[in-house]
Amino acid sequence: MEIKIFKDYQALSEQAASEIEEVIKLKPDAVICLATGESPKLTYQLLVKKLIDGKIDLSDCTLIGLDEWVGVPPTTEGSCHHFLYKEIFSPLGISENQIHLFDALSGNLFLECQNMDKLILEKGDIDLMVVGIGMNGHIGFNEPGIPVDNYSHVINLDSTTQTVGQKYFAHPTELKKGITLGLKHLLQAEKVVLLANGDKKASIIKETLEGPISIDVPATVLRMHLNAMVIIDEEAAGLLSEKTLLDSQTASNV
Ligand code: GLP
Repeated sequence: MEIKIFKDYQALSEQAASEIEEVIKLKPDAVICLATGESPKLTYQLLVKKLIDGKIDLSDCTLIGLDEWVGVPPTTEGSCHHFLYKEIFSPLGISENQIHLFDALSGNLFLECQNMDKLILEKGDIDLMVVGIGMNGHIGFNEPGIPVDNYSHVINLDSTTQTVGQKYFAHPTELKKGITLGLKHLLQAEKVVLLANGDKKASIIKETLEGPISIDVPATVLRMHLNAMVIIDEEAAGLLSEKTLLDSQTASNV
């Protein structure tokens, strides 16, 4: 696993956007899975700029949403669906047949999971997953304790996720369950880029990079991935040991 530390959110987002650009240039029909949240927001804005500048063409890509809050309508600001359309799909002009998101209002969530897994299998795996990390170490909605061999599934959200998740919503919202790609998707993806910024993420980043590899902190399984990259800013790297800092490929602009 490669660790890259950047001066600030702007610099890490520029790097993340370049990583996505590189994948698309190498494979124009790449299958890309996108997380939502504060961490990748600027990355997506920079990607939109690259498209406007003619540097990338996503017209042959397949775009998959990482996760969704069960029961939250797609039109609600705060849903992953709403975020992805607002921040990336609409500004990039992505056509509907390229977009694959969980329908979290479906009466048959099991079928939603099956359909997503089938799609990924038919596409021959995911070329790039862009993910964030929750305060409890979750990736997507792979909450602490989740088996590593899970594909898409529905999960009861833990209390940290239910509380922290309120930040995305204008009004208090019931966030009891999530639907998400699994850790097995993560481990089988060709490449994974994890983004984290700010000192609020410093403790979980330290656990992820220096603690034991355990499903108690799901993000630690990324250390078993041969092509995973953790892109963080100096604040998120603030609690890392000197050894990790030395091991990390320190970005030139730090
Ligand atoms: C949320 C989402 C994740 C996201 C993570 C971090 O609950 N389900 O997909 O990556 O938590 O979010 P943020 O970037 O806002 O800290």
